[in-house]
Amino acid sequence: MRRILLLGANGQLGSDIRSVLADDPVELVPLYRRDLDVERTDRIGPFLRELGPFNVLINCTSYHKTDECEDYAEKAFAVNALAPREMARICGDSGAVLIHFTTDYVFDGRSRTPYRETDRTSPLNVYGVSKAAGEHFIAAHHDRYFIFRVSSLFGTAGASGKGGNFVETMLRLAGGGAPIRVVDDQIMSPTHTLDIAEAIRTFVADGVTGYGIYHCSGEGECSWHDFAAEVFRQRGVKADLQPVPSSGYKTKAARPAYSVLDNSKLNGIRSMPHWTEALGRYFERKDAQTIGRGG
Ligand SMILES: NC(=O)c1ccc[n+]([C@@H]2O[C@H](COP(=O)([O-])OP(=O)(O)OC[C@H]3O[C@@H](n4cnc5c(N)ncnc54)[C@H](OP(=O)(O)O)[C@@H]3O)[C@@H](O)[C@H]2O)c1
Repeated sequence: MRRILLLGANGQLGSDIRSVLADDPVELVPLYRRDLDVERTDRIGPFLRELGPFNVLINCTSYHKTDECEDYAEKAFAVNALAPREMARICGDSGAVLIHFTTDYVFDGRSRTPYRETDRTSPLNVYGVSKAAGEHFIAAHHDRYFIFRVSSLFGTAGASGKGGNFVETMLRLAGGGAPIRVVDDQIMSPTHTLDIAEAIRTFVADGVTGYGIYHCSGEGECSWHDFAAEVFRQRGVKADLQPVPSSGYKTKAARPAYSVLDNSKLNGIRSMPHWTEALGRYFERKDAQTIGRGG
């Protein structure tokens, strides 16, 4: 049976990968920060070797508080670049496949058409630089890797350390009744983590060998304001939603104005649903979990 190690198993994406692979004929080993703090990069090699042979390492750990990364570049580099480098080295030595995740923020947003895997990266912020560096390190140390660039995630587990996700934040704010100002000039593709997890399962189950970088995001594109409006529409929530330009909503880290990813390469293996359909499935799943908990 194939042995799969999953780092960051309690994160938003990690939780969905864990649940999607739970019934598959694989030995899944979920790993948490308490097992290994990947910021301590010197610990990664000894820790992974001690776990014994494995076929696939899935790395869902990340330091992705985009504004905070501006102040903690060393930490961003350790978690997002040096840690994946160590993982690639270990996988390179053993021949295991490495599956890693990066971001649409490796692009500068000057394009007006969806970014392809071959487009030049040119990140605008520390987070994006650290994730792009992680991509280069992996490619420099290993051949058998998949890097999935994903964007604007929402999953029922909520992003670890961010207190939920954009969908839940919007619903919480709407409950407060105050005006909700959301930027309408940053265009991206919201992505349900369950859809990414199912794509990963396809890669693992089918033994895909077309190694390299894949773009993996919800189909379609929208602004964050449009995303919020669709959340309220699907939930039947009345909210005082107001569009604002990025210039009126200053953040420490610059963000790309356009970061839509072109999924064509992935589509040859597994297609992603439109983000509005994915949002509907997210709510269905969340409601089912709430009922299951007796809520
Ligand atoms: N969220 C987004 O909107 C977004 C957008 C584009 C790309 N991405 C990328 O997608 C991937 C998955 O994101 P996500 O939203 O699922 O993230 P998440 O929910 O924040 O999960 C991150 C995971 O990493 C773990 N982690 C962080 N620092 C660690 C450390 N030093 N040592 C060990 N574990 C550590 C966290 O553990 P704890 O729970 O203990 O903190 C958590 O399990 C990441 O590569 C991210 O960069 C995310």
